[in-house]
Amino acid sequence: MIENKKILLIYNASQVLTLRGGLQRGWKLGKLGIIPNGAVAVEGETILAVGDSQSLLANYPDAEKLDAVQQVVMPGFVDPHTHLIWAGDRAAEFTMRLQGKTYMEILAAGGGILSTVNATRAASVEELLHQTRQRALTSFYHGTTTAEVKTGYGLTFDSEMDQLKAILALDIEGPLQLVPTFLAAHAVPPEFKHNPQAYVDLICNEMLPELAQWWKNNQPQNSLPFVDVFCEDGAFDLAQSRQILEKARKLGFPLKIHADEFKNLGGAALAAELGAASADHLVKTSSADIRALGQSDTVAVSLPGTPFGLDEDEFTPAKDILDAGGILALATDINPGTSWCESMQFILALACRKIGLTPAQAIAAATINAAAALNLANQVGSLEPGKQADLLILNVDDYQHLGYRFGINLVSKVIKRGRVYPV
Ligand code: NIG
Ligand code: FE
Repeated sequence: MIENKKILLIYNASQVLTLRGGLQRGWKLGKLGIIPNGAVAVEGETILAVGDSQSLLANYPDAEKLDAVQQVVMPGFVDPHTHLIWAGDRAAEFTMRLQGKTYMEILAAGGGILSTVNATRAASVEELLHQTRQRALTSFYHGTTTAEVKTGYGLTFDSEMDQLKAILALDIEGPLQLVPTFLAAHAVPPEFKHNPQAYVDLICNEMLPELAQWWKNNQPQNSLPFVDVFCEDGAFDLAQSRQILEKARKLGFPLKIHADEFKNLGGAALAAELGAASADHLVKTSSADIRALGQSDTVAVSLPGTPFGLDEDEFTPAKDILDAGGILALATDINPGTSWCESMQFILALACRKIGLTPAQAIAAATINAAAALNLANQVGSLEPGKQADLLILNVDDYQHLGYRFGINLVSKVIKRGRVYPV
């Protein structure tokens, strides 16, 4: 029996931001494709039509109607870089940092990421799910409809797989859609302190092949997860990052990298060379590496919550990346160490002040370009017929309030796969 899916018509929006036309490279960033007095027709989980209210009301007279009453309608935010899944608490490290210790000093002393590794390894699956679910919901009700989530707080194959399975379980639970990334190369675990290369070899020779096999047996219908590396002094050097990413690529995994958060090691150029989906952080990136990124399809993901969270003064050189023709995106980097922020709205506010974007540019970087960083630009990130019906209704009548205002939630409704969630 063919079931007639019901149509939902969201109409009367002061502005529908369509973000139509695909990812936005270089200074093309910021094309919102605005429809004044706009409407969006949704059938089941999919966008059916986008246009002005008058035409869509005429075309779909029997639709269930949702009056957006002079509010902005836009695509849900895509958050393409998160460490949403962890257990434990590092609030005391914030005080230590305010008193002068650096992030990498705390890590070198066995704290930082390694402290979260201990807590996460010790947590029950239920506890890990419970803590992560709360953050996922906060993120969702602040407007994020799709988020990438990295493992990286287990650092053994089994505990990394436990995190990966928890991410997959939370994705099925919803409403926030989650895209998994395998980040066993997040830190050198204490067991390998005196022989980090042995850990790199373990990732390459055992973990990645076993992950590929597990995926084939258990998730054949889903595309492979991303593989990521923290390429940094004190974590994994450029040669080790290359070894891991080349092996991952050979096994068919799409790639990501943490590059130039504290030091320029060449990770961004490596990402461009290997065809990674994204290179993320990009604070200390050299001009040569920016050029390499600009000439590639690798998305440059800026995480302004991280220098802000660390109270540092240097941010992503976004204008240089745009000058070079790069594809710029934004993400929260939510994690317990450097940036505990679930809200893409706050990231937009930082991007407008700290990396020089306009609200329009920040919105494009947080939707269509962020979707491109997850290889999902054909499914989410814009309001176009055939795409997934992931929308926000904001309680403002002009998009420029995004980025301008901060510290509060401007989302009044989240619509995920056609389902309406009032905030
Ligand atoms: O992206 N830099 C590495 N990873 C995270 C921090 C993780 C943590 O401190 O727990 C980041 O900033
Ligand atoms: Fe990160």
